[in-house]
Formats: sequence, C-alpha cells, structure tokens
Amino acid sequence: MANSLGVATWSSFGRHGLSPQTDHDEASRMEFTINLFRHLNWQQPAHKEIYDKKVEPGFKRENKRAPKNRHEVRDAMLKDSTFQVWSHLRVYAQENLFENARLSVDRQLDTLIGKAKEKKKGKTKGSLKLDPTFEVPRYQKHLDMHWMPGSYFTEFVEKDDVAVGAIYDFGGIYVLTNGMLGQYNDGAGHAVVRYLREKFPGWTPKSVLDLGCTVGHNTLPFKRAWPKADVHAIDIGAPTLRYAHARAEDMGYAIHFSQQNAEATNFKDNSFDLVVSTMFLHETSHSAVYNIVKENRRILKPGGLMIHVEQPPFSWAQSPFDAFTRDWDTHNNQEPFWGRMHDMDPEQVALKAGFKKQNIFQEMAPLVTPIPGDDYNLAPFGAWFVFGARK
Ligand SMILES: C[S@@+](CC[C@H](N)C(=O)[O-])C[C@H]1O[C@@H](n2cnc3c(N)ncnc32)[C@H](O)[C@@H]1O
Repeated sequence: MANSLGVATWSSFGRHGLSPQTDHDEASRMEFTINLFRHLNWQQPAHKEIYDKKVEPGFKRENKRAPKNRHEVRDAMLKDSTFQVWSHLRVYAQENLFENARLSVDRQLDTLIGKAKEKKKGKTKGSLKLDPTFEVPRYQKHLDMHWMPGSYFTEFVEKDDVAVGAIYDFGGIYVLTNGMLGQYNDGAGHAVVRYLREKFPGWTPKSVLDLGCTVGHNTLPFKRAWPKADVHAIDIGAPTLRYAHARAEDMGYAIHFSQQNAEATNFKDNSFDLVVSTMFLHETSHSAVYNIVKENRRILKPGGLMIHVEQPPFSWAQSPFDAFTRDWDTHNNQEPFWGRMHDMDPEQVALKAGFKKQNIFQEMAPLVTPIPGDDYNLAPFGAWFVFGARK
C-alpha cells in the first residue's frame, strides 16, 4: 500500500469497476516504471549541486555575471552531460509509462467499451452529453500532450471509444506523482474543498462546474463534499468523457459530463456558485486562458467563486534556477503552454475578464494526500497555487 509519504507501488493504485486490468507482465512493467520515476525524482536535487559547483561558476567566468533568468540557466545546464542523461531518461520514462498503458488498454479495449456502455443503461445517477459536431481547439489538436498517445480526444475505434480515458487513468498521474495525490489521484479536488472551507467557512455551493475534468479524478470530491450540489464537468475529449461518466457512475457519484470548450460553453449567464479547475489552465494556449477566465465570469452567479489550481507563476520562483527546474516540461514533456502560462500574471488576466481587484486572490494552499483506509483524513504534503476571484 502507499504510505502517508506517498510512496506508491503498482498494487496500491486505486481500482474501480472501469479500471483496466493488468496481467503479470503488465504489472511488472508498471512496477519498474514507478521505480524508474522514483529514482529519477531522487536524482533531481543533484542538478542544483552541479549548477552551484560547476555550471554557474562557468557562466560567471564567461559573462562576468550570474544568469539573469531561467532561459540563461537552461542554456548553461544543457551543456552538462549529467543533466542531458537525466533529461533523456526522464523523457523515456514518460513515454514508457504511457506506452505500457496503451498496450494494456489496447488488449482489453472491447471489454472496457462494453463496461462503459453498461454504465449508461437504465436509470443513471449523472449524465453524459457528447457533441458529434465538436471542434477540438487547434492548440490541442496537434500534439500528444505530455507524450500520451492520442492525447485526450483521439478515437482509436469508430464507436464508443474510451481508450484515451483508460490510458490516462492507467496509473499516469499516480506514477508521475508517486501516489502523492492519493490512490484515486483526487488530492487536488480534496485540497480545493479544504481550502474553500477554511477561507469561506459556512459557504456551500449549490452548483459546481469543473473545467477540463479529464476522467473526473478531481470532480468527484466536490460531489462528496457538497452532496446536494448539482455538479457539472466539461472536457473536449469524447473518449475521456465516456470513461469519466462510467467511472463516476461505478463509484456512485452523480456528475453531469458534457463535451464543451471551456472558452465558450453553452451554460447560461449566472449559472454556477463555483467554477473550478485543477491542473487545467497550463494545458491551454495563452489566448485560451484569457477566454476561459472571461467565460468563467459570465457563467458565475453574482457572489460566485472561480478557483484555478496550478503551480505558482515563475515570478514567485525563489531563483532563476528554481524557475528553470520548474520549466523542464515546456521543453521536454510535450507541454508547450506550460512556460508561457506560468509567465502570466493571474491578477491581470482576472482584471481583464472584468473581476474587481479587491475580489481577486492568489496564494498557496496545502496539498493533501487522501490516506488509504482513512481517505478523508487529509495529510498536508506540499502546496498548490490557487488563483481565484469572486464575481
Ligand atoms: C491536465 S488535464 C486536467 C486534469 C484534471 N482536471 C484532473 O484534475 O484530473 C487537462 C484537460 O483539459 C482538457 N482541455 C484542454 N483544453 C480544453 C478546453 N478548451 N476546454 C475544455 N477542456 C479542455 C483536456 O482535454 C484534458 O482532459
């Protein structure tokens, strides 16, 4: 089992009725990948030592000054062979993780599709609305986000496909975070609930919208926290949403999923008390972030809250080296929007969307790890950046 420090093993990953099964070889490959990621994470602090002892002094000798920003640190670090090897291995680990998942999902895709279809039959708790005319935004269409084959929207088979949802759910986040977000990868949702309860005691939303929900990992905690709330979740990917809906039904949660672009939804003005996203904005384009925050304001009720959970902007980084470390994904992990998004000033985005300065907030909030066996006793473990505003 994962312990409270988030040390994951493949057997401790949370399963549900839709989870792809692993045979012996698949489970061993995943165990290997978990250990490879853990090993690489443990190696990462060594980069600072290399930088302090070798790379920065070399830069100073050449330029008569220290590097000014993360770009200069990167240019200098790229010449270091230890960093080069680490980066190659880290990319390999990422590709390997999702390739393992793809192979396993591919082997059992018919079964998974059948299970998802079963969950749609009869009286369901929530709902699923797909839009056959939906246009995937250009900034999503042209890459496999963080090396995930098919990204979030590709249909591998003609009808009822759930493959990319299953691939994403197949241990991806769990392995990447070493189980730190809990068995069901729902730590961010729980962190939002905890944050809101502390910041706005007694506030209970009646309507919630989760943007870029993927398979709903972090949507379910909102329904759990506020059972009477009408909880909606949107994403651009049909296969992801089919999987999300079936997973939520299987786990007993009434969530209303629909295929929509968060930049321009079909919800009426003043619809929601809470519009929320977790780890979403950094995977959208620069202009999309502006559109999304503007759309959030339109669909929020007066007094409603917008909350986005991300990593802090680079302007909050302790040093150019710290920002360089956090920018690795932009250059190596098929996350092209990561860097530009973290260069943005969230307050300025919210002001442009029409929120009032005094109603905008940004701060760090505890990251929590739901603990197996006592999964709602939350364990503090690092911090998220929360950016929000009240309408
Ligand atoms: C990193 S994932 C979000 C993870 C998820 N919120 C969670 O906490 O597990 C980003 C998601 O945003 C979706 N997405 C990207 N652009 C979108 C858009 N314009 N509108 C709605 N969803 C979008 C992607 O399809 C993907 O599922």
